[in-house]
Amino acid sequence: MNFDLKTLELAAAAAEKCDLLLVLIPEGFTPGQDALSTLAALALKNGDLLLKAGKHLQLYQVPAVAARRVILLGVGDGTARAVRQALLALGAEIKKPQTKRLVLCFAAALKAGVASAAVQAVAEASYVYTTTKSKAEARSLSRCVLGVSDAAEARPGFDCGVALVAGVEFAREWSNRPANHATPSLLADAAKTLGRLPHIQCKVHGPAQVRRLGMGAFVAVARGSEQPLRFIELRYSAAAKDQAPIVLVGKGITFDSGGISIKPAPEMDEMKFDMCGAASVLGVFRALGELQPAINVLGLIPACENLPDGRAIKPGDVVTSMSGQTIEILNTDAEGRLILCDALTYAARFKPAAVIDIATLTGACVVALAGVRSGLFANDDDLAVSLYEAGEAALDPCWRMPLDDDYADGLKSHFADMGNTAGRSGGAITAAKFLQKFVAGMRWAHLDIAGIAYKSGPAKGATGRPVGLLVHYLLAQAEAMAMAQQAPVAPAARPAAKRTGRSQGGLKRTAP
Ligand code: BES
Ligand code: MN
Ligand code: ZN
Repeated sequence: MNFDLKTLELAAAAAEKCDLLLVLIPEGFTPGQDALSTLAALALKNGDLLLKAGKHLQLYQVPAVAARRVILLGVGDGTARAVRQALLALGAEIKKPQTKRLVLCFAAALKAGVASAAVQAVAEASYVYTTTKSKAEARSLSRCVLGVSDAAEARPGFDCGVALVAGVEFAREWSNRPANHATPSLLADAAKTLGRLPHIQCKVHGPAQVRRLGMGAFVAVARGSEQPLRFIELRYSAAAKDQAPIVLVGKGITFDSGGISIKPAPEMDEMKFDMCGAASVLGVFRALGELQPAINVLGLIPACENLPDGRAIKPGDVVTSMSGQTIEILNTDAEGRLILCDALTYAARFKPAAVIDIATLTGACVVALAGVRSGLFANDDDLAVSLYEAGEAALDPCWRMPLDDDYADGLKSHFADMGNTAGRSGGAITAAKFLQKFVAGMRWAHLDIAGIAYKSGPAKGATGRPVGLLVHYLLAQAEAMAMAQQAPVAPAARPAAKRTGRSQGGLKRTAP
């Protein structure tokens, strides 16, 4: 699908030939003299059009308007969030097979983030998964024009939105593929295709190399499967060689049966989504290839299946992680932390500026935050604030959770340095406490995306989150690093980075 950006007043929008013209009207809109404005003003006066986000009025073959269908769409206060909400409410209209050419025209100047949000909402609404269907009906929308009052001003946000669509759709595609069409090897092949993009290199380690690295916990999880494990290493290098990279670690369990601690049958198919963290890392690299910011990023993906088998790990087994710490496997279904801990130990080699792991880690996080916010854990307040704010700006929000040491009490083991589970209560937090044992000396954050990475029920499918959050975070970091290099001033005198909104519950950055 092609996106285009144009300077287009409402009067000119009437001349745009398309299947559907969406006129986005915020509250307090001041109508002009053109035909569409006059129509909207009349409909408003008669109460036939309300401007709450998502309220709309449909028109057909309007005289002097080239579009076949016209929808006057209320976008509430006109913020990015409201525009997104309004467009998704009209998702069915955007997805209709007869909607091939779409024009969006904004009846007022754009607020921050609106161009990006609009592009992403149109893509989200029109997305279709086709890969494993024999008679696939592909996405019908082929062209979408964004008509705004000032195209030059909207350009950076628009470009970012288009890049994010590429990243999110890459993540959605690989997340949605069933486990037999997205094995660890196939996931590694997908990562290799990203190596063709500018500044990106990809290296894939197999079972022998991973064993040689001493990743005993990762190897233990992979033992129960016929599919060989893969350890994917992606590098995006567009800043000075000596600039410390930001490392992203994505959980790549391509299917999680639970192993010997097997899961119940209902909804077990959804455990093909247990590699959504990995897919989000791939999606971020896809977007980086488009945006090409000056930053160094490393992507690490441990990928394997978690299956029961004669060779599979058993409850009570003790394994030795790459860090040297031993782990008693009390529940083979707590496998994500086992593959992540070795990848986190490996990450330390790169002396990262920050390491962020992304994982569909716990059912407990779904209970805590549902499908709205990712669970955010961090051992560094600055990093937590940056990620929180990136989530708000990207409309891909997260919420910080606690990491008090008391939460680690349940991880004590009689037979190893730690157990891999700590009972039912606070499950998302105890999982994070487990990971924290492997990040000593690094600025670290963990995003538990079990609730937000995919939807169950009638709309079953991957969301592509948190690609938006991560890309926003990386772009903000690239900007901050460039600023720090331009004007090397004492940390205390450094101006605070531009704030996009309020921080969670008065969360403050640590004083320099
Ligand atoms: N992949 C699951 C977590 C999960 C659950 C993701 C539901 C999405 C939806 C993870 O590997 C798992 O099984 N976690 C266990 C941990 C428990 C055994 C300590 C869980 O959450 O039940
Ligand atoms: Mn599991
Ligand atoms: Zn899992």
